[in-house]
Amino acid sequence: MRCVPLFDLSPIHEGLHDQFLDACNAIIHSGNFILGPTVEAFERSVAQSLGCKFALGVSSGSDALLLALMALDIQTGDEILCPSFTFFATASCVARLGATPVWVDVCAEDFGIDVKDAERKVSSKTKAIIPVHMFGQCCDCQAIQSFAQRHKLWIVEDVAQAQGAQYDQRQVGSWGTIGAFSFFPTKNLGGLGDGGLVATNDIKLAEKVRCLRVHGAVQKYEHIYLGGNFRMDSLQAALLNVKLPHVNDYIQQRRRNAQFYQQQLGPLEPLITLPKELPSRYHTWNQYTVCVHNDQRNALQSFLEEQGIGSAVYYPKTLDLQTCMRDVSTDKGIATHGAHTLANEVLSLPIYPGLTLEQLEYICTTIRRFFEKQ
Ligand SMILES: Cc1ncc(COP(=O)(O)O)c(C=O)c1O
Repeated sequence: MRCVPLFDLSPIHEGLHDQFLDACNAIIHSGNFILGPTVEAFERSVAQSLGCKFALGVSSGSDALLLALMALDIQTGDEILCPSFTFFATASCVARLGATPVWVDVCAEDFGIDVKDAERKVSSKTKAIIPVHMFGQCCDCQAIQSFAQRHKLWIVEDVAQAQGAQYDQRQVGSWGTIGAFSFFPTKNLGGLGDGGLVATNDIKLAEKVRCLRVHGAVQKYEHIYLGGNFRMDSLQAALLNVKLPHVNDYIQQRRRNAQFYQQQLGPLEPLITLPKELPSRYHTWNQYTVCVHNDQRNALQSFLEEQGIGSAVYYPKTLDLQTCMRDVSTDKGIATHGAHTLANEVLSLPIYPGLTLEQLEYICTTIRRFFEKQ
């Protein structure tokens, strides 16, 4: 039986082994293991690629989100508009600061936050909106920007899944007030461990994040904020510096894989709905997520597994239904029906760079076989 994992880093890491080792050796010899010149070099390269004035390397994507909200002084009593269909970290940072995540529905077309629903849920307590650029495609940035301007809200972009995505040829993470990136190994720029980054054009926010990530200290033992240890390791930055020049190539490979799926699986619509690249947007295909209708999602996933093909359900349970969120949100947040439907129908297929044509053909043939049997 052939085997296709959901995700595999070996095709892109194989050719980088020597550079990884050289990068690690340089750090070991430097004796500089936390922040320092290697992290600064990484920050400069990312800021340049984003077209953003400031980029600050931090410990993870979750911490990048937390720091963004801390820098905006989000606290108890504040409401933050969050999609209910996203990874947990998008909203846990809100609740951890004592603020209230208000659940907003998502659009089936791009899995992004539904501005019309946000319009229904905004209140005098709302301070910010967190659009999550899901699965590698950006949200409707223009609609979000005009909504935020009208209601005087900050935009905290969750860019964890979509580094490199663009709206109107402008990089995500540079649209909002502040952007939070993740370098978790499966991301478009995946590290060899945890890492994250905060990007902004606002010098005051940048300086506050810089301070918050080192326990709120302006200088040694002089703490002006209650910050934390949110520092990026030099080793991680050194490894990310090796991969950063290749990100666009990785995204191109993901885009080619997506195009193959579109052609091969197109005839299966409307049994399944394929994800689409919407006008004005540049999709990076961090995930290739189909919606499987007629209650067939779990059966298809089991069939793929039997045939040696990995797949995943991102995400099977929306955040409004999570046990730890029951007491932190408001009753306004219950109506996210679109998100609940997605949670029952989504299935993500392998799309990583380095996937071979033979593997892609095998996946598509197997999916077609599943529907022929029905
Ligand atoms: C949408 C989203 N936000 C935030 C995060 C958190 O990033 P990290 O795992 O680097 O903390 C992730 C990671 O999976 C994510 O997918």
